Amino acid sequence: MTESRSTLPSPFLKRPAPRLLAGQRVLVTGASSGIGKAVAMAMASAGADVCVNYPVEAELDRAMEEVEEIRAHGGNAWAHQCDVSREAEVVAMFDRIRKEMGSVDILVANAGIQRDAPFESMTLDQWNHVLAVNLTGQFLCARESVREFRRRGMTEASRALGKIICMSSVHEVIPWAGHVNYAASKGGVMLMMKSLAQEVAPLRIRVNSIAPGAIRTPINREAWDTPEAYQSLMRLIPAKRIGETEDVARTAVWLASDEADYITGTTIFVDGGMTLYPGFEAGG
Ligand code: BGC
Repeated sequence: MTESRSTLPSPFLKRPAPRLLAGQRVLVTGASSGIGKAVAMAMASAGADVCVNYPVEAELDRAMEEVEEIRAHGGNAWAHQCDVSREAEVVAMFDRIRKEMGSVDILVANAGIQRDAPFESMTLDQWNHVLAVNLTGQFLCARESVREFRRRGMTEASRALGKIICMSSVHEVIPWAGHVNYAASKGGVMLMMKSLAQEVAPLRIRVNSIAPGAIRTPINREAWDTPEAYQSLMRLIPAKRIGETEDVARTAVWLASDEADYITGTTIFVDGGMTLYPGFEAGG
């Protein structure tokens, strides 16, 4: 093991989780950074083969580093570039998944972006781009997954025909001024997830969301990377610490596993209490 590997941030590869996902195959979208990266590592550590989806060619090196890291620790992963908002690219990604892994058992629809602006100056492009990646992207990947689960049929690896985890946000319920496009996309994810869960439950497909609060990633660096910002962020978090990507990744492994076999149509908030109306800690 090289020095750089032993100092890499994923605790999962250093201290492997129980192999809850042995023999299963996972697609994690937006997996070359942030929450998606931690989820991909954790899934690999739990015994799954992982397709590391990354959005643009510029992310190739990061995705390959991640794949190499997983392989160096005895896991199995490979990378595939695809813009999840483009139907033809998503369909092609599933063709490649069938070639590389035979099928897929778990989708983590994680890819997501922010393009923030005050409402009056928000461009149609900012609106469309966020909705396209965050909502349409999850729709396209979930639809191809359901089709693939049905084509493949039941296996010994899981009690479910397939599992879908939508990466939502506390902003599926918390309104967010200055981020109307983002909050609208996550509100959409909530009812897409629940409606789909209702539709496919009889097929033994489980569909759930994880709603992270403030997690330390590049997407929200401004909210945590100075002491002043961090202190102000703590006013919104009863648990008084920022979330780490591993907090979300652990939840994803468990939710995708048969340990959670009777759970469908639910959002699990991984937010240190951000959705508990922290303004009411005193008073009211
Ligand atoms: C956003 C972050 C934000 C967090 C809590 C997430 O969904 O992507 O930027 O810090 O919600 O507000």
